[in-house]
Amino acid sequence: MDKAAIERAKEHFGKILENQMNRMERVKSAPDWIDYGKIKPLKIGLLGGDGIGPIIAKDAKRVLYFLLKDEIKNGKVIIHDIEGLTIENRAACNKPIPDDVLAEIKKYHVTLKGPTTTPRKGDPWPNIESCNVAVRKELDLFANVRPVRIPKQGIDWIFFRENTEDLYALGPYGIEVDEDIAIDFRLISAPGADRICRLAFEHAKKNGRARVTCVTKANVVKTTDGRFLENFYRIAKDYPNIQVDDWYIDIMTAKLVDEKRRRDFQVMVLPNLYGDILTDEAAEFQGGVGTAGSANIGKQYAMFEAIHGSAPRMVQEGRAQFADPASMIRAAAMLLSHIGFPEKGKSLEMALDICGQYEKKLAITGRSTGATGTAFTDYLMETLQDPKLKGRWEAYVKA
Ligand code: IPM
Ligand code: MG
Repeated sequence: MDKAAIERAKEHFGKILENQMNRMERVKSAPDWIDYGKIKPLKIGLLGGDGIGPIIAKDAKRVLYFLLKDEIKNGKVIIHDIEGLTIENRAACNKPIPDDVLAEIKKYHVTLKGPTTTPRKGDPWPNIESCNVAVRKELDLFANVRPVRIPKQGIDWIFFRENTEDLYALGPYGIEVDEDIAIDFRLISAPGADRICRLAFEHAKKNGRARVTCVTKANVVKTTDGRFLENFYRIAKDYPNIQVDDWYIDIMTAKLVDEKRRRDFQVMVLPNLYGDILTDEAAEFQGGVGTAGSANIGKQYAMFEAIHGSAPRMVQEGRAQFADPASMIRAAAMLLSHIGFPEKGKSLEMALDICGQYEKKLAITGRSTGATGTAFTDYLMETLQDPKLKGRWEAYVKA
């Protein structure tokens, strides 16, 4: 037995614990929720990303400028591009976010970000940490909020995925103990579980949702998932009017496909990796990951993005202009609601539903057989400007 390897691993683990205990102190002493209503000017930063990112970002930007034109004119809102968050720059400095870009991001209250490439072992890029994950950690964006709605099937789900812990917290800090054993670490903290569960319950309470469901694998992963679940039920006691239950991730994945049961789920709260997987599955029912937006919410900052990756293959094959911008535009809708313009956010969502799910005058296929993202966005903006937008949407939803 290689005793030295064991000692090295122990030391490594000791450092991890020190860092995480420090993080706990920061989480516990963090300032409370920012009040966007009191801020002038409210600063929105736009990050293009990699691959199809800059292309779909351009369309999302058009929509955002259009919906905020009055607020921009009267100085309530400022929108700016933030340059430099490219995989080339990240590879050059061997960091998930270049320092100057991170400093710039922190000058904005909220950001809308295009997908960024996440390198993995064997890629031409150095195997640096995912930039998404790094931004979430740096800005303490602890909640990944992902709605999936399919009105014609009665599906109206919202996922509260914990966004800073679980396998992601220490993803780059595993130990190659020796040539046989590799170990990663999974971390769930009580403050981390509390804040995501509370946000899910608050959402349910404010939006009149009757039920909140927790998803874990606490029967097997007893310590960390056990902690998450225990905290879920403890927070639930503060919301006696909300029905609660919990499911294991395996059966939950199956139940989302069960047409008899799936519409019963409403608000779901779950640790990071289960949330990552389950939300891709859920988005697929809505029309694919290209149709789903995602909000990364923290108490001081928030970042909004598509739930999918940068699709380098589409760029290589010359199909980038056929990428669906709906995911990023949905993220823009979530951004608008989050910073205090819920009517604008709602209108944008209605227009997206009409154009993408019901009327479908233009279909996006990701290839030249379908519309370009820009043509789709023109169609969307036209729909958005229709004074009868709400009536049109309601007629479709009721039909
Ligand atoms: C997501 C993505 C990211 C994640 C990747 C790109 C690191 O899949 O936002 O769901 O795993 O969180
Ligand atoms: Mg994912």
